[in-house]
Amino acid sequence: MSVIRPTAGSLDKALRRYATMGELCREAADYIGGFAQAAVQERELFTLALSGGKTPQALYELLAQTPWRDQMPWSKIHFFWTDERCVPPEDPDSNFGMARRSLLTHVAVPSRNIHRIPAERKPPEWAAQSYEESLRRFFGAKCRFPEFDLVLLGVGKEGHTASLFHGSEVLEEKNLWVRAVRSSESSPRLPRVTLTLPAINAARRAIFLASGAKKKSILEGLSGNVQTQENPYPAGRVCPREELLWFFSEGD
Ligand code: 6PG
Repeated sequence: MSVIRPTAGSLDKALRRYATMGELCREAADYIGGFAQAAVQERELFTLALSGGKTPQALYELLAQTPWRDQMPWSKIHFFWTDERCVPPEDPDSNFGMARRSLLTHVAVPSRNIHRIPAERKPPEWAAQSYEESLRRFFGAKCRFPEFDLVLLGVGKEGHTASLFHGSEVLEEKNLWVRAVRSSESSPRLPRVTLTLPAINAARRAIFLASGAKKKSILEGLSGNVQTQENPYPAGRVCPREELLWFFSEGD
């Protein structure tokens, strides 16, 4: 599979369209599985940052079913999160809680491989600092930024990704790996903790998952000037080191 290096205006090359969410999830599961196998063969490790929201739930549920359940090197995969709402894990709005229900309780991932964001800690700034410290312990203090193998991302209908919102000073963060977001423009309107853009862009690869008409208009808005740091849409500023792909389904 040829790697598509992110360059400005490369959305058309990076875009993979599917008629249904089911087709998208099968293709995305195969993509993740193939990359995980290759990374584990190469380095005995695969670091995967999960996104939250509703869209990825069907993908997580699929990964918990055969053949992926039996094929993925679960004991070598380390799970992280791109962002989290400032609620306890049991809260219905918790991104970690959704991934735990959909995937993690159904597959053999050792608990030591699950690095959730402790977003229930108050204030959110302390939660962000705690997560950054745990990432630095895992990736090594010498790393300028965390080098995830793969980051899964969603996109909001106004172009945000993770919890990076247009016009937010957090979007302009250049040094920290993790920041608190006091006010979210997107439902649920909760304080959040998010990876910063440089922390996301230090990843080897990133894939967006999006579906439905509301997201189609965002894709059209992104096309043409994607992957530039001036892009008005936070999602348009995602530019990982090796490959960026958009998995889009017309149907929800
Ligand atoms: C969150 C997500 C957020 C999400 C988009 C799309 O915590 O809400 O990380 O960035 O991916 O808002 O959400 P949907 O998939 O629910 O449309």
